Amino acid sequence: MCGIVGYTGTREATPVLVEGLHRLEYRGYDSAGVAVLRRGKVGVTKTAGRVRDLRDRLAESPPNPATVGIAHTRWATHGEPSDRNAHPHLDTEGRIAVVHNGIIENAEQLRARLTARGVELVSETDTEALAHMIAAELAAADSLEDAVRAALRHVEGTYGLVVLDRTRPDELVVARNGSPIVLGVGDGEMFVASDVAALVHHTQRVVFLDDGELATVHPGGYRTSTLEARRTSKEPTTVELAADDYELGGHSDFMRKEMAEQPEAVARALRGRLDDRFATAHLGGLGLDPMALRAVRRVKFLGCGSAYYAGQMGATLVEELARIPADAEPASEFRYRDPVVDPDTLYVAISQSGETLDTLAAVQELRRKGGRVIGAVNVVGSAIARECGSGVFLHAGPEVSVASTKALTNMTVSFAMLALLLGRVRDLSAAAGLRVVTGLRALPERIEEVLADDERVREVAKRYAHARHMFFLGRVRGWPVAREGAQKLKEISYVHAEAYQAAELKHGPLALIDADMPSVVLVPDDDLLAKNIGTIEQIKARGGPVIAVTNAELPAGLADEVLRVPRGEPELDPILLTVPLQLLAYHIAAELGRDIDKPRNLAKSVTVE
Ligand code: AGP
Repeated sequence: MCGIVGYTGTREATPVLVEGLHRLEYRGYDSAGVAVLRRGKVGVTKTAGRVRDLRDRLAESPPNPATVGIAHTRWATHGEPSDRNAHPHLDTEGRIAVVHNGIIENAEQLRARLTARGVELVSETDTEALAHMIAAELAAADSLEDAVRAALRHVEGTYGLVVLDRTRPDELVVARNGSPIVLGVGDGEMFVASDVAALVHHTQRVVFLDDGELATVHPGGYRTSTLEARRTSKEPTTVELAADDYELGGHSDFMRKEMAEQPEAVARALRGRLDDRFATAHLGGLGLDPMALRAVRRVKFLGCGSAYYAGQMGATLVEELARIPADAEPASEFRYRDPVVDPDTLYVAISQSGETLDTLAAVQELRRKGGRVIGAVNVVGSAIARECGSGVFLHAGPEVSVASTKALTNMTVSFAMLALLLGRVRDLSAAAGLRVVTGLRALPERIEEVLADDERVREVAKRYAHARHMFFLGRVRGWPVAREGAQKLKEISYVHAEAYQAAELKHGPLALIDADMPSVVLVPDDDLLAKNIGTIEQIKARGGPVIAVTNAELPAGLADEVLRVPRGEPELDPILLTVPLQLLAYHIAAELGRDIDKPRNLAKSVTVE
């Protein structure tokens, strides 16, 4: 969602800021803006639309050699996307400029209070109130940081923010509560961003702020403190990300690149974690010894969207391999149903970004009630990773496309290792464990084989791209795969897709089957093969086209199209079956001319409710 970039140093700030915004575009936004400070004047340029529109607008004015500034991409929450509502926002005097991610929950009261004091608000945003409030605190404050701290005492809600003061020529003040902020430490220059993607071109030395923390940043360094004005001490850490992790590297778009990276991403997730000798997995980050693992009586996975479906795949794996009850639940619902938190349950919070607000809130609810929660997170240093404190990093590498592919695959691979580990401290035999270890190790090569079938999937996609609706059907292991397949198609192609448990078809949805309703049926070669063949026959008998995704030998002519995946260990079938569905969604979206990496209305990280 919204993105923040800040710079103070010796370079011309505007190009640094605009380039940073470009790198945050993948997060989703609808307007962009920049404010730079030179000779006591804050120059603001902003526009509804894309970063390229902002660049065009900047090109209309004379170049500004300012060396300090802040910039923002906004995803509208309070007020429509417009030039007026775009950030940065200023106070009445034009002294303070603010960019802000998150939501100020008491914005209405704060705005009303300001209006009663005679302040004229020029936007509909919550953020503008912050600019006026900080400006009002300056008179009584010793520093900009103190003024920001004083203003934030009146604020309820979430924020990651950066503040610029006309009278402090090379200083930025930064604060965080619930919305990520990271400082980038350069040589005689400092960067600020809401996401390391905007920084890694300049520096890999970063400082992640904690919730309730502020920082004052100037070209020579930074100092951090809490909202209560206690100094904190933060050393920079080095992020293992390279600038070209965020480049297309010859691919047409990021989704294509990230699908292609799956074999190497899976290999990375497995590296050093498989143990042949004891036929198990090592997940040191869990912080659970064998006794603690044995004490787990139930596992609950929590995530949103695709992460939730990955959790469903994880629950199936845990039940199959460890024989303990497991299920998955959308994290977005969790905190609102006053959940019964069970001390013997291991809760797993799943998130690629580590920023999804609903998942973070579920973790906080769990921790408040004394639940044991671990993270399955891709982004190191992210809010969910830090809130959980322990867990398993996905090691998928940066994922830029809104549609999650390699991170989702690595989630399921990580859950297979977790299930194996839980199984091996119980009754899963060494032989069965070794079979899973071997199957996991073979995954990168098998995924490579599925990806090599790209052209065949493209042909099928072309034939069905103009369908208005599609069903995705699966049983047990195939059911979360069907849900994920439908999700991928919906989000990037805008084709209406619905997933059903195959056996549910005859209880209602079968009425929708006709020649214009293609069904994608997941047919793993497992105990339910005959049942899935029966489902296909029921659809065919009613004239419905069928695309079967399978590793089984199906009767000739049963399905209209067959997309094949290699045979592996049956428990791991969902991982392989998911990949052709990514390709199918991708090629349908491409055929329909969609903006694949940036589907309409969606954001990569959903940091609002
Ligand atoms: C996946 O393709 C979607 N873009 C979306 O459902 C996503 O998985 C969800 O928003 C959760 O994101 P997270 O993994 O970053 O928490």
